[in-house]
Amino acid sequence: MSELRVGDEVELDVGPVAHGGFCVARHEGRVVFVRLALPGERVLARVTEAREGQRFVRAEAVEVLTPSPHRVPPPCRYAVPGQCGGCDFQQADVAYQRDLKAAVVREQLERLAGLHRDLVHGLVVEPLPVPAEAQGEMPSGLGWRTRVEFAVDEAGVPGLHRYRSHEVVPVDTCLIADPRVLATGVLGRTWPGERAVDVVAPSVGEVVEVPVPSDPGAPVASPTVTEAVAAQGFSGNFEVSARGFWQVHPGAAATFVDVVLELLDPQPGETALDLYAGVGLFAAALASRVGETGRVVAVESDASATRAAEGNLAAYPSTLVVGARVDDAFGVARPARKGAARQRATRQRKLRRNPLLPPTADVVVLDPPRTGAGRGVCGQVAGLGARAIAYVACDPAALARDTAYLRERGYALRALRAFDAFPMTHHVECIALFAPGDPPEDGA
Ligand SMILES: C[S@@+](CC[C@H](N)C(=O)[O-])C[C@H]1O[C@@H](n2cnc3c(N)ncnc32)[C@H](O)[C@@H]1O
Repeated sequence: MSELRVGDEVELDVGPVAHGGFCVARHEGRVVFVRLALPGERVLARVTEAREGQRFVRAEAVEVLTPSPHRVPPPCRYAVPGQCGGCDFQQADVAYQRDLKAAVVREQLERLAGLHRDLVHGLVVEPLPVPAEAQGEMPSGLGWRTRVEFAVDEAGVPGLHRYRSHEVVPVDTCLIADPRVLATGVLGRTWPGERAVDVVAPSVGEVVEVPVPSDPGAPVASPTVTEAVAAQGFSGNFEVSARGFWQVHPGAAATFVDVVLELLDPQPGETALDLYAGVGLFAAALASRVGETGRVVAVESDASATRAAEGNLAAYPSTLVVGARVDDAFGVARPARKGAARQRATRQRKLRRNPLLPPTADVVVLDPPRTGAGRGVCGQVAGLGARAIAYVACDPAALARDTAYLRERGYALRALRAFDAFPMTHHVECIALFAPGDPPEDGA
């Protein structure tokens, strides 16, 4: 097998795209994960990471010898080898970026969930609408990101992180950022004493800057911003901490609410659960459908999001916010973490179901962080006997694992949509519908 070291340059025939924003190639039997290349290309790649004992090395395409027909010049001068690690796909036209993401979702569901159904094969990644006032004159795939965390180096200079590194690359622009973010002049100033500065361009009101001190013990003053959601099936305003979770693409929240409502079709009087509820986006939409005779229970672990959710949902008397981890609320073991102290903490925790959770539910929204919900939570969700579960997934690998766990407990994937909520990057958002029973016979 080839001995490759950091800095070596090798010619490679680039194979398929893989989860994580790179393509797979081989060099004398050694697997190479090549960034900034496209499937079918021949490139000269420089090795950027070669760890002892690891079966693969990482590399970046530094020269393209045979280009893909989908290759374009990267719009941003920092989306090149050795520079910013934020965008993985600027070298591809935007439609092809979506094809690459669809291929990754398909591959994950086939490999990790064993799904080979038409539903998965025919998947396309759909663009999200960008409100004209948010994007201005920016070309497709640029100018969409309404929340950006700029890193700050030791001299106080703002920038973005190098790929797989804490090193800060000073930048004077970020083309995927909403132009209002850059108009603050955040990148033209220095930020001594800070390790980052967050800039948030909410849909309502002024842009907000939040400096994050280098001293981890120092408090971060994160103001509240207002986000308006005008979906077809629901509208409302949400208060959210500037550093709290909110979808970063300006078309995402409304589109996802519409898709979730369409998939679940909540009915008056039904009981709904919104798990990993954030500031209550889906809970509010569900409450607007189940009405006062129904019930919505939202579960969220972050204290500031929980407080915001209580305020945002105050207009819906049928809602209840439970401030807890979802696994704790269901009384299942937390996923194993490294470290003896954590193991002790897990052992000492009493595994008891939170009595505020209803014993059954008609519909469930699951919107976990990148790690996914996990086997224990999926088992508990299946045990609620819901007629429909909408799973909003920011990581296709986690979605695929949880799809397998839900299937173990009798829930089959019935519908799947995917959205380009993060153009120019490898990230993709999926929304899946699960229902009890066997999957339809479409090539399963
Ligand atoms: C992807 S966000 C979704 C938020 C919300 N559904 C939305 O669309 O705005 C995931 C949320 O889960 C919360 N979270 C992370 N781990 C959690 C856990 N173990 N239990 C409960 N909430 C958790 C995070 O604080 C975050 O608000």
